Amino acid sequence: MTQTHSISTRTTSPGVTERAGARFARTLKPGAVITLSGIYGAGKTTFARGVALGLRVSARHVASPSFVLIKEFPVHTQGIRTLAHIDLWRLPRLTATDSHAIEEILKRPDGITLIEWGIKLPKRFQKYVSHSVNLKITGPTARTLIIHSLHSRKKTKRA
Ligand SMILES: Nc1ncnc2c1ncn2[C@@H]1O[C@H](COP(=O)(O)OP(=O)(O)OP(=O)(O)O)[C@@H](O)[C@H]1O
Ligand SMILES: [Mg+2]
Repeated sequence: MTQTHSISTRTTSPGVTERAGARFARTLKPGAVITLSGIYGAGKTTFARGVALGLRVSARHVASPSFVLIKEFPVHTQGIRTLAHIDLWRLPRLTATDSHAIEEILKRPDGITLIEWGIKLPKRFQKYVSHSVNLKITGPTARTLIIHSLHSRKKTKRA
C-alpha cells in the first residue's frame, strides 16, 4: 500500500479536534477504514466522536470502547450504512473469533471503520486501511493530527 498524501492540522482544544474529525468524516466514502494512533489521552476517541458527529451519529454514544471491542452505529449519509468503532487496546492478542469478526467489518463495502490503537492491527489486515490518523500531544490542550490518505483499499481488495 502506497501513501498518497498527508494533511497536518494543529488543534487547540478537544472541541477543535472533534470538529476536525467531523470535517474529515464528510470526505469519507463507503468502505473507508481508518486507523487512529497516538498515546493515551492523545485524542483518538475525541476525533472518533467528531467522525461520528460528521456522519450524524449521536455523539453521546461514542466513548472509548475500553470494555467492548467493537461498537456499531447506524449511518444514513454519503451512501454509508454503518460506523464501527473498534478499540484494539483491550486485547493482548486477537483470538481467531475476534479476527474473523473484525475482518468481516473491514470488508463491508458500505461501512466506515475506525480503529483505535491501529498499531495493533494484524499486518494481514493492513490492506484494508484507507486512512491512518496519527495524534500527537504537543501541549496541555494542543494536539497535532496527521491524516494520511492511502491507496484505495478497493483496488487492493479486489486485486
Ligand atoms: N486539543 C485536544 N484534542 C483532543 N483532546 C484534548 C485536547 N486538549 C485536551 N484534550 C483532552 O485529552 C483527552 C483526550 O482523550 P481521548 O479519550 O480522546 O484520548 P484517547 O487517545 O482516545 O485515549 P485512550 O488511548 O486512553 O483511549 C481528553 O481528556 C480531552 O479533554
Ligand atoms: Mg480512546
